[in-house]
Amino acid sequence: MTKSSLIDRATEIAKGFEVSPELLNKCVDHFIFQANEGLRSNSNKRGLPMIPSFVTDIPTGKEKGLFLAVDLGGTNFRVCSVTLNGDNTFHMTHVKHPVPKDLFAGTSTQLFEFFAEKILIFVQQHHSDQFSSIKEGNEKLKLGFTFSFPVNQTALNKGTLLRWTKSFSIDDTVNQDVVKLLQDQLDKKLVPCIVSALVNDTVGTLMSRAYSTTPEDGYTLIGSIFGTGTNGCYMEDIENIKKLSKDSIPENTKGMVINTEWGSFDNDLKYLPNTKYDEAIDKLTPNPKFHMFEKRISGMFLGETLRQALVDLYKEKLIFQNVDDMGEKFFKPWTLDSSNLALIEVDDSTDQIITSLLFNQSIHLPTTVEERKAIKILVKAISKRAAYLSSIPLAGIVIKTNSLEKHDLIDIGADGSVIQYYPGFHENVQEALKLINRIGVSGEKRINIRIAKDGSGVGAALCASVA
Ligand code: BGC
Repeated sequence: MTKSSLIDRATEIAKGFEVSPELLNKCVDHFIFQANEGLRSNSNKRGLPMIPSFVTDIPTGKEKGLFLAVDLGGTNFRVCSVTLNGDNTFHMTHVKHPVPKDLFAGTSTQLFEFFAEKILIFVQQHHSDQFSSIKEGNEKLKLGFTFSFPVNQTALNKGTLLRWTKSFSIDDTVNQDVVKLLQDQLDKKLVPCIVSALVNDTVGTLMSRAYSTTPEDGYTLIGSIFGTGTNGCYMEDIENIKKLSKDSIPENTKGMVINTEWGSFDNDLKYLPNTKYDEAIDKLTPNPKFHMFEKRISGMFLGETLRQALVDLYKEKLIFQNVDDMGEKFFKPWTLDSSNLALIEVDDSTDQIITSLLFNQSIHLPTTVEERKAIKILVKAISKRAAYLSSIPLAGIVIKTNSLEKHDLIDIGADGSVIQYYPGFHENVQEALKLINRIGVSGEKRINIRIAKDGSGVGAALCASVA
């Protein structure tokens, strides 16, 4: 095979990742349709979940007090204490623990015992006075629990797990109230805390962004995550949430934050692009045929999409043909991650030497200059598709809520490794917003995606503060 046929074929594969403006617009319309369906009823299990969060107010920045917040994200469990100062500022102390690998598919009890243990140690180290004040009959510390998975939330402090996403698959947690699971383990260890709010990380992000903004930043419409997983939430008018029974809504409630679980947008792939690599990845996941949008966008899947495409090129005898020993790593799923792609994306070193080192280290493969060029073509295509698709739910929510008509400036709080660190991702999302007819160049100028730091910690504390 001549070298240029590798570049030609990589370019052809890259074309399969292109997202046209027509497709973007169709997807936005379909997102709005699915969002309205999800607000009407829960009957379509493959539709957009649109989960009511029971958070009915957006912070003003004046909230005060000491709260605990814990957060189970993709791979880590974080314990924090947050002091809200009442002036848009806060102070936070936190400790992060990687969740041991065997707990990802163990039992519920093992997982929640691990959480309670870490909370106990944290409170002993940082708030030991709390133990004595409890003995004196004082109140327990309120704890906001950020749990970044789809739950059927029925109150601010109650929610049953619908299904695991990302790498977790613990069967006996499904359909259980995760607040009760945590509280039971805390009580067993006599930890002086009460789990008073169950918070999706997007809701935390919205709350913390709203707490920190000033009026010049515009109206904080969306809390979003573009990291290991992806999702977003926004404040919806209460009369539009048709599926909520009247008696579950507190009196005088005007709106409620909805956790869209947009990772599940277009699970039936009516419009979403679908390459053979996407199909192969879906089969590797614990939740096949669900969260199909997330599997095209989020950090967990970008590296594997590249590996799948490279394996294809190898089978077509176009790449790595002069390698004596291919080893095992290249053929093992999930060996490349999005941080590898981020480096390749911006590798302007002579002959892309950084990519060469990276392939040597991560999958023990030598590469030629030509191969590295082909790899870069694929990386750029995969990340651009992810960023373009990410604009769909953002645009969908802006349009659905008529926000461009209501507000001069729209502020979108965003957290997660991909939006924060992936080079050019943020810019590409903004580019794609311009291509959406009902937003356009002028609308896009009024929409600002801004990083909301520590959303899950501070946001969860804010939710606990209103409980
Ligand atoms: C989960 C969401 C979460 C998102 C970002 C998704 O896999 O379903 O609940 O908000 O990841 O962490």
